[in-house]
Amino acid sequence: MRKKIVAGNWKMNKTFKEAEDLLFGIADALISGRPEDVEVVVCPPALYLELATDVATEHDFSCGAQNLSEHEAGAYTGEISAAMIRSTGAEYVILGHSERRIYFGEHDQLIGKKIQQALRHELIPIYCCGEVLEEREAGRHFQVVEKQLSEALSGLDAGAFSKVVIAYEPVWAIGTGRTASPEQAQEMHAFIRKVLASRFGEPAADDTTILYGGSCNAANARELFANPDVDGGLIGGASLKAEDFVKIVNSF
Ligand code: PGA
Repeated sequence: MRKKIVAGNWKMNKTFKEAEDLLFGIADALISGRPEDVEVVVCPPALYLELATDVATEHDFSCGAQNLSEHEAGAYTGEISAAMIRSTGAEYVILGHSERRIYFGEHDQLIGKKIQQALRHELIPIYCCGEVLEEREAGRHFQVVEKQLSEALSGLDAGAFSKVVIAYEPVWAIGTGRTASPEQAQEMHAFIRKVLASRFGEPAADDTTILYGGSCNAANARELFANPDVDGGLIGGASLKAEDFVKIVNSF
C-alpha cells in the first residue's frame, strides 16, 4: 500500500549510549507532534536494533536494518541474516544503498537475492537506486535507474513486489549538500512509477511508496515532499539529530 514514510539511515554512526540518547530524543520529539499518516522508520546499526524496537513499540515508530545477508544461515562469519533481523522486531531493511554498491561491490543481481531473502522473512525492503554524477551529466540517468530496477526486481511477481518500497537516491546528492531539485526528484519518481507500471501493472505502481534520498533536510523536505510522486524521504545526515529528523517528519 502506498504510504508516506520518513526513514532515517544512521549508517555507521553512534556508540551504544549515543544511540540510546538519539532514540529517546526522537521518541520525545515525536510526542510533541507528528502527522498521523506518516510512518517513521529508524534504521540504526544492527547492533542496536533490539534496543531500537523496544523504544519504537512504545512510541509508535518502526525500525529497519541497513543490510542483510543473502544467505539463510550458517558459516558466514560477520554476516547478519534476515531471520535474525526480523527476530528483533525490525520491519524494514535498506538494500542496494549506493555505499554498499560502491564500497562493498554489491551489484543488482546480489541485491535482488537480498530483496527476496528479506521478503521471505517478512521484512520490507527499501530498495535504493540512483545514478552517479557522470551518468546524469551524460543524460543516462533514466537508463541507469531503469536497469537497476529491472535487474534487482526481476525475480518478483506483482504480489511479492507489492511489499517493496523504492528509494531514489541520486549518488551525487548523498552526503554532499547538493540536493536534487524538486523538479528533478519528481521527474525521476514519475519515471520510476512508469517503469514499475510496465513491469507490475498500473495499480501496483500507483500503490508503491517511492522515497527521495540525498541531502534531504529540514530546510528542503517540504518542497520535495510536495511533489505528487514523492512519498517521503530516506534521510542520512539529518537523521542523526532528533530535532532535525522530526522536523522532516513534520514536513508533509
Ligand atoms: P544524506 O544520505 O541524507 O546524508 O545525503 C542519504 C542516504 O544515504 O540514505
